[in-house]
Amino acid sequence: ASSADPYDVIIVGGGPGGYVAAIKAGQLGLRTAIVEGRGALGGTCLNVGCIPSKAMLHNSNLYHAAKHDFKDRGIDVSDLKLNLPQMLKNKEKAVSGLTKGVEGLIKKNKVDYVKGWASFAGPTSLNISLTEGGETQIEGKNIIIATGSEVTPFPGMEFDEKSIVSSTGALDLEKVPEKMIVIGGGVIGLEMGSVWNRLGANVQVVEFLSSIGGAGIDGEVAKSFQKILQKQGVQFKLGTKVIDAEKKDGKVYLNVEDAKSGKKEQLDADVVLVAIGRRPTVKNLNLEAIGVELDNKGRVIVDDEFNTTCKGVKCIGDATFGPMLAHKAEEEGIAAVEIIKHGHGHVNYETIPSVIYTHPEVAWVGKSSEELKKDGVNIKVGTFPFMANSRAKTVLDTDGMVKVITEAETDKILGVHIIGPNAGELLAEAVLAMEYGASSEDVARTCHAHPTMSEAIKEAMLAAHFKAIHM
Ligand code: FAD
Ligand code: NAI
Repeated sequence: ASSADPYDVIIVGGGPGGYVAAIKAGQLGLRTAIVEGRGALGGTCLNVGCIPSKAMLHNSNLYHAAKHDFKDRGIDVSDLKLNLPQMLKNKEKAVSGLTKGVEGLIKKNKVDYVKGWASFAGPTSLNISLTEGGETQIEGKNIIIATGSEVTPFPGMEFDEKSIVSSTGALDLEKVPEKMIVIGGGVIGLEMGSVWNRLGANVQVVEFLSSIGGAGIDGEVAKSFQKILQKQGVQFKLGTKVIDAEKKDGKVYLNVEDAKSGKKEQLDADVVLVAIGRRPTVKNLNLEAIGVELDNKGRVIVDDEFNTTCKGVKCIGDATFGPMLAHKAEEEGIAAVEIIKHGHGHVNYETIPSVIYTHPEVAWVGKSSEELKKDGVNIKVGTFPFMANSRAKTVLDTDGMVKVITEAETDKILGVHIIGPNAGELLAEAVLAMEYGASSEDVARTCHAHPTMSEAIKEAMLAAHFKAIHM
């Protein structure tokens, strides 16, 4: 192909949805370009999301453990000090290493990396405002929108990323705030709230609903999660509506009211983190010009093959329907490219895992008890606490449990909910079991190594099917 020929596929956006789609397209022999304007590949996830937050979660947990937990374990440390600049530097190192790695993979798979911001000039052509200056136009037989999402601002509160911050500012605070208020008790609020709580801030989470954890979390797990976080020092103000904020004398004052009684109160903090959700990034794409329609939440409308309302243009990841998760975006990226190449591709939305990377972690796949009861499904529940798991006991990490929900008539696994050490890694087994349509008996009869935390899954499966052994 000459450089003037149209690409087989152009992907707009270099996040986990876009870059994975680009690699797959390269592997399948499609002539591919990826357009990204932020100066690095990896999107929200690698640059200001999953990766830097997990770096901070891990190291803040080690610091917290050294301070509060080591003594009980028989390890005396003296002169323990937080070196925040070094912790932030390590986070940056993880980010730059991984984003460069992605750039290497893109090159290896012969994908052209176009640095700049794209907007549609027509259904098969994009104008690119180049990072190095100037403009260019590229043509593609297929275009995939993978432009991701951005933080939803709180009306009237402007982010200065110092005292009123989004998750991006919360990943980069120069010093530990004395007092931090988090608006929103969802995933970002709890992860970033945990980080700064562990590093010494007084953290208060203000949430509109009466429970924490965001959409899809099992009610029983959410309650136990809240208790555990409270034990760690995080404070919660649930059922509370934030009205507005004002900055005065280096502090932020928040006016809030009780959602039921309407009782008003003023809270103050050094730093306020706004974490009330994210919204698709589509505004500069000139979608109106090509007839790509959005729903009432600003998400790009697609059919079950990721086709938008403009022929030849697909959309995947955070910019369209479904949970805003990196692995969901990746699966869609691959399926979209396979559909372009082979005419078919598939994502199983019933088995997309959710993980909250606090300590203990919270992880689940499938439906919650509440959702299943609402759907009128006859369920059986098996639970097993980590308190009764030998490995958890050995390592003094016994908070939490595994909860397995099955269909009563068939024993088919419908949901697995874990709160406990390494829940995110443990969950993979449950995801695989559900992907293969397993029953709780199937997993209960599978040999699990001893002593491992994974035995808690086997025991909860045994409990759902018949009876646990160690309870
Ligand atoms: P994005 O990653 O948002 O990438 C889109 C890219 O498109 C961006 O780089 C953007 O610059 C680019 N772009 C936008 N418009 C244009 C344009 N016009 N031209 C060119 N380029 C454009 N998910 C998890 O699964 N696990 C986690 O642990 C996790 N942690 C998170 C922590 C935080 C603090 C945040 C904010 C998010 C987290 N997420 C996590 C969510 C995850 O980051 C997203 O679901 C994921 O990045 C979505 O991928 P995407 O490819 O759809 O979009
Ligand atoms: P979220 O949707 O998880 O939680 C937002 C919370 O804010 C909800 O509990 C909601 O009830 C509450 N809220 C909304 N408006 C409010 C108001 N006015 N006052 C008080 N509370 C209010 O969104 P969040 O935490 O911002 O995260 C955005 C996305 O990023 C999520 O969809 C998540 O999927 C993704 N993410 C994933 C992570 C992971 O997989 N570990 C980590 C971080 C983010």
